[in-house]
Amino acid sequence: MKLFLDTANFDEIREIKAWGVLGGLTSNPTLIAKENPTSIEAHMKELCSLVDGPVSLETTEPKADAMYEEGLRLSQVAPNAVVKVVMTPNGLSAGKRLADEGIPVNVTLTFSPAQAILAAEIGATYVSPFLGRVDDVGSDGMHVLSEICEIYETQGYDTQVLAASLRHPMHVVEAAKLGADVATMPFDVFVKLVKHPLTDGGLEKFNKDWQDLKKQVEEGAS
Ligand code: E4P
Repeated sequence: MKLFLDTANFDEIREIKAWGVLGGLTSNPTLIAKENPTSIEAHMKELCSLVDGPVSLETTEPKADAMYEEGLRLSQVAPNAVVKVVMTPNGLSAGKRLADEGIPVNVTLTFSPAQAILAAEIGATYVSPFLGRVDDVGSDGMHVLSEICEIYETQGYDTQVLAASLRHPMHVVEAAKLGADVATMPFDVFVKLVKHPLTDGGLEKFNKDWQDLKKQVEEGAS
């Protein structure tokens, strides 16, 4: 399972990239607005240049033709750009045209197995079920993901399942167990993935014992 970062913040990208685990990036209009860019296109270009992997850039036009044109423009931002379309009839229509032209498409705001079947049928490269947001409305996001993974396996669909809206490490672990192709998560979830109190405590003890040993050796030599 590839790990993608869900952000439009350059520093967060640099940090996770430095760990050597950054497989790609997802962004959305909310995340880009949070960064307050002076030029949206320049910001998107920089996102793409910082990441060695696919970068999802979201369309915002509601009508199919305009969304398709916007998708074409987004696909030209950089060679690693992936065009996000929303799970609506217009999004499917624009997404299908883009996919037919060989442009990688990510169908976003997906919340059910029924919707995920549609994403696969238009030839999308990715489908993004938003697990955390399903949980937010009192339903079971992980169950939705398991049904999508099962259907995709049974049908032999090529579309990759991109588990999105992940809120904590167990979302990531469960998504990996279910066979998701990608997990995208915010920076704080990456930080929680690496943290463990036994690692911190163990390191502290190793450091202390090492310093004590060095002192002892130095004292023995003098
Ligand atoms: C993914 O592409 C989305 O940008 C993201 O996962 C949404 O997450 P949220 O529900 O935490 O906003």
